[in-house]
Amino acid sequence: MTEKTKRLDKFLTEMTDLTRTQAKEAARKGRITVNGTVVRKTDGKISPETDTVTLDGREIRYTRFEYYMLNKPQGVVSATEDGRYPTAVELITGRQRKDLFPAGRLDLDTEGLLLITNDGDLAHRLLSPKKHVDKVYYLHFQGMLPSDAEQTFQDGIILEDGTKTRPADLTILSSDKNGGKARLTIREGKYHQVKRMLEACGCRVTYLKRLSMGSLSLDEQLKPGEYRPLTELEIKQLKGES
Ligand code: URA
Repeated sequence: MTEKTKRLDKFLTEMTDLTRTQAKEAARKGRITVNGTVVRKTDGKISPETDTVTLDGREIRYTRFEYYMLNKPQGVVSATEDGRYPTAVELITGRQRKDLFPAGRLDLDTEGLLLITNDGDLAHRLLSPKKHVDKVYYLHFQGMLPSDAEQTFQDGIILEDGTKTRPADLTILSSDKNGGKARLTIREGKYHQVKRMLEACGCRVTYLKRLSMGSLSLDEQLKPGEYRPLTELEIKQLKGES
């Protein structure tokens, strides 16, 4: 779908670091052109996908939606702004738009797949509790899981606040009396859900990494802190169009 028209000030605030007031001021000073003509007011409409807009002689390319896969490292918050920690959005240094946000959240000490986008509809579809999108995690735990843990996770775990989780697929990859490694697929997004599920079984998660979300799998080439744009196919598959 193409976007027909947009106010020039909105275009400028979305695609540059200018605030609306700064954009207005830049236009007043003759720093902005639309299709080669200096435009001194920013309240008019442009066609973002076909008009050529420049600021100080430099073309501002329009991108409506951006989609990035980030391998979130530990110590980074799933947020757009934070006073204490670096944010996931700040790691997307090649972004064009200012309105990117993480679609979902991972804890400060969790690594792995985080989708960063400005496509609110897609984020809603992936995160809506009604959609039950699969989220797959790899984890290390301390403690001993009961021998019937895989079945217990399938039946639903009663968390410490009395709520019951939906069926989850636990595969224990290795374990001994001190702990082990496992893969867990959940279909909801309760706060600290994986850690709380393991705690309810007397164990403690010591390492957690998200491997996939719906059709989107973490690219194994990406080291923690690295990111890449999604491919057209990945975007289509996420939207359920392929
Ligand atoms: N579950 C957790 O406990 N933490 C996360 O970061 C994600 C899922």
